[in-house]
Amino acid sequence: MKLRISKTAHLSTRLLFRAKNAKPSIPDFEGEKNDISVRYDGTMALAYCGIGKTSDVTGRVVRTAAAKGVQKVLEIKRADVSIDLTGSSAGFPWRAALEGALLGAYKFAKYKSDKGAVLASIELVSEHATLSEARQVAAVCESVNFARDLVNENAHVIFPEAFAKEARFLARKSRMKCTVLNEKDIDKKGMGLLKAVGQGSGFPPRLVMIEYRGNPKSRDITAIIGKGITFDSGGQNLKPTGSIETMRCDMAGAAAVLGAMRALSAFKPKINVVGVCSLAHNAIGREAYFPGDVYTAYNKKTVEINSTDAEGRLVLADAISYCREVYKPVRIIDLATLTGGIITALGTTVAGLFSNDKRLTELLFAAGERTNERLWAFPLYEEFTESMKSDWADLRNTSKKKKGWASSVTGAAFIKEFAGDTPWAHVDIAGTAFNEESAEGEIPQFATGFGVRLLVDFLMQI
Ligand code: BES
Ligand code: ZN
Ligand code: ZN
Repeated sequence: MKLRISKTAHLSTRLLFRAKNAKPSIPDFEGEKNDISVRYDGTMALAYCGIGKTSDVTGRVVRTAAAKGVQKVLEIKRADVSIDLTGSSAGFPWRAALEGALLGAYKFAKYKSDKGAVLASIELVSEHATLSEARQVAAVCESVNFARDLVNENAHVIFPEAFAKEARFLARKSRMKCTVLNEKDIDKKGMGLLKAVGQGSGFPPRLVMIEYRGNPKSRDITAIIGKGITFDSGGQNLKPTGSIETMRCDMAGAAAVLGAMRALSAFKPKINVVGVCSLAHNAIGREAYFPGDVYTAYNKKTVEINSTDAEGRLVLADAISYCREVYKPVRIIDLATLTGGIITALGTTVAGLFSNDKRLTELLFAAGERTNERLWAFPLYEEFTESMKSDWADLRNTSKKKKGWASSVTGAAFIKEFAGDTPWAHVDIAGTAFNEESAEGEIPQFATGFGVRLLVDFLMQI
């Protein structure tokens, strides 16, 4: 994708934003939100994107409009587009316009014979944008698309070792340190939970750690940790038809972490971040872990397995304990497609936020509002933790209350037990990571890449 900045538009396809009732008016086009209309002037195609009332124009509206506009441009098979912001005010959210175009142009066409048009270049026509900032926006969007590709790819292609290979490749290219623990290391170090989840599969588990050190003198290090179940069959608690088909998306947390690391390495902020991906294939098979058995975590807590389908919290628990010991992070954010319950609570456009730290909650919430990767905070009350105590081990992996009781908050309460006194936040992206409906603006069909922009925005604020 080529990107340039210019003061006047040169390309014969243009995206233009129009507020409602803007003058001069365009016949039969009101400028309502979500309205797109293409007008031709000779060979010139002008794609007008409605953004509604001027007083309501936000980054969110512009991002979505740009995405819809660029989708129209691709539909008419044009590959090069000028985003024409000529005459727009200094406050116009040009970053959101660029983001919308870059994110909206994404399509996972690898397995389609007809791949459709692909966006080849963008010219951003603006008095106010700078090339270095625009490149930064593009690096983040490319990283979102990278995460989307990882999630959309077949589970038979992206198994734990294949994911680790992607991570190693990325780290080498951008000079970050990458450590990969294989199944023997995982066993030797005593990560009994990650081992248990992975042991039913011919694709063994991995723990990947990538270090970005932009401020080597500082001891401030943030850990971002992703659930990386490359396929969640449910294990012996096998998922039924209707729930299992999309479970290649269960590594979307790990993909978002890798995407965020990719973005950081591209524009090099002065911060330190370790990205951890806890990877396993939750399979049903001869060696698969049994419901009812007890396993010992890396931090020596014992866990009774009530459901082999509540596996995400198990792989996160070991990743968090290990990461705390090795890197001593001052804060931890985990991202996970953890519970179906969060879809019941918040649907598919908002993710659940759970934390033991007020400031972390506030910073993440604000990052969600800015990026439109929105979060809503849930409580972590004592009774949720209480319901995760086992009668014959330290913890259970599902609540002892009736089946399905508050699964998102009790799942989070389980993970909290492994964060200790480290400020920690958990983001449940089970609803937002994978869109089974058709594209909606910058949110494509299938993998959404949710979390990459959220994490990057958050990390730039700390
Ligand atoms: N990977 C699933 C959660 C999920 C559901 C992700 C839908 C994406 C879309 C997770 O491992 C799971 O199965 N969770 C169980 C937990 C329960 C057994 C406590 C769930 O939500 O039903
Ligand atoms: Zn599961
Ligand atoms: Zn899962």
